Amino acid sequence: MPTVVIVGAQWGDEGKGKVVDFLTEKADVVARYQGGHNAGHTVVIGGEKFVLHLVPSGIFRQGKLCIIGGGTVVDPYCLIEEIEGIKANGIDVSGRLLLSKGAHLIMPYHMAIEQANEGAKKIGTTGRGIGPAYVDKASRSGLRVGDLLYPALFRERLQTNLRHITALLKAVYGVAPEGLSPDEIYEGYMRCAGTLGQYIADTDIVVNEAIDAGKNVLFEGAQGALLDIDHGTYPYVTSSSASAGGACTGLGVGPTKIDRVLGVVKAYTTRVGGGPFPTELRGPLGETLRERGGEYGATTGRPRRCGWLDFVGLRHSVRVNGFTGLAITKLDILDGIEEIKVCTAYRYKGELMTEFPKEAAVLEAVEPVYETIEGWQEGTTGLKDFEALPPSARRYIRTIAEMLGVPVHLISTGADRGSLIMLDGQFG
Ligand code: GDP
Ligand code: IMO
Ligand code: MG
Repeated sequence: MPTVVIVGAQWGDEGKGKVVDFLTEKADVVARYQGGHNAGHTVVIGGEKFVLHLVPSGIFRQGKLCIIGGGTVVDPYCLIEEIEGIKANGIDVSGRLLLSKGAHLIMPYHMAIEQANEGAKKIGTTGRGIGPAYVDKASRSGLRVGDLLYPALFRERLQTNLRHITALLKAVYGVAPEGLSPDEIYEGYMRCAGTLGQYIADTDIVVNEAIDAGKNVLFEGAQGALLDIDHGTYPYVTSSSASAGGACTGLGVGPTKIDRVLGVVKAYTTRVGGGPFPTELRGPLGETLRERGGEYGATTGRPRRCGWLDFVGLRHSVRVNGFTGLAITKLDILDGIEEIKVCTAYRYKGELMTEFPKEAAVLEAVEPVYETIEGWQEGTTGLKDFEALPPSARRYIRTIAEMLGVPVHLISTGADRGSLIMLDGQFG
């Protein structure tokens, strides 16, 4: 297992945290490459549940180096709180958690802009200031983690940004922002710098040295390919490169250094927030999936919309990520469902459509074309052996591999760390 990118293949919450935590046993380094604390990655160990937002999901494996890469956006207060929570669980992070100097800072005014914006756009964001922080990155006015080490420069750029943002909020949104005092923000961020200073590093050097030394390195994606800023259901996306290419830009690793790309696919589909979702189940079956799957946002607690597996979206995801293997999660949630449907194509204005449309308005209007697969009545929770799965469950897994043309390496059969089937020794 040399270098592996782990990517959500759908609209996030596929179970990336669980898969990353499991694979970290065999890894030396785990690095998050994009997103911020909009992510909620759940790890369950011996019945105890932990939710991570920015810290890589390898943190619960002692001795493993965890890196928050330059492609992420960081709210320092929230990161400190997250680190404190991890430490409170008896986990020692000293010397094994690094934060890239290149990561952009989420500032209090980013939340203010997002709040003002959401009224108009209705994306259903997590409200964490993620989008505006990436806007500042692209417009070259962002403040970065490394800037915290240069207080005078930080203060000057903060003042410039605040002048601009206060004027913008007033003129465009008619909002008189509160709590945006330059001195208070500056002092607060300097206090955070004092706490986080021990973790700040040139992480591109560390990651590349680890790869060159032949270490096993995992790259942890947040969100999912269908929420990717370029390849997702724009504008109903997040503001970063969630798909595999983001690992290269977000960590400063060349594409030639990536050995494998593991796509994490939930055995059904969920989406939280706004945007098109052709296979959404709006009736009682959707409710059943939500309740059985515990489909409530790990970050915001919002109910997740639930539906059937969508091979049109997944084929797009396979293409833009170049998956070399799949991890299928939450198979156990389908236990007892008599007939499982999978979407193989869309119908749009009477025509069959087999490619994922680029326009959200088209995706909103398509009708899914389903095939029905026989379900299984037996329980699969906690199974660790492929042969122990009911024949229909095995068929379902094989159908996914065949429809996508990608081998299945892992199957998750429960939230707990140990509830997992390894299929072909690829990650054994
Ligand atoms: P992530 O954002 O991709 O890491 O996924 P989340 O943590 O947001 O959501 C996945 C949820 O499903 C979490 O509550 C996990 O504990 C849970 N989970 C992960 N894999 C499985 C599985 O195979 N079976 C069941 N029942 N739960 C799972
Ligand atoms: P993990 O890593 C699911 C969604 C939001 C919203 C859109 C934009 O746990 O899979 P943002 O706050 O990022 O600007 O919101 O993206 N979203 C997620 N949905 N899982 C996530 O992360 C998400 N992170 C953002 O609900 O629709
Ligand atoms: Mg999540």
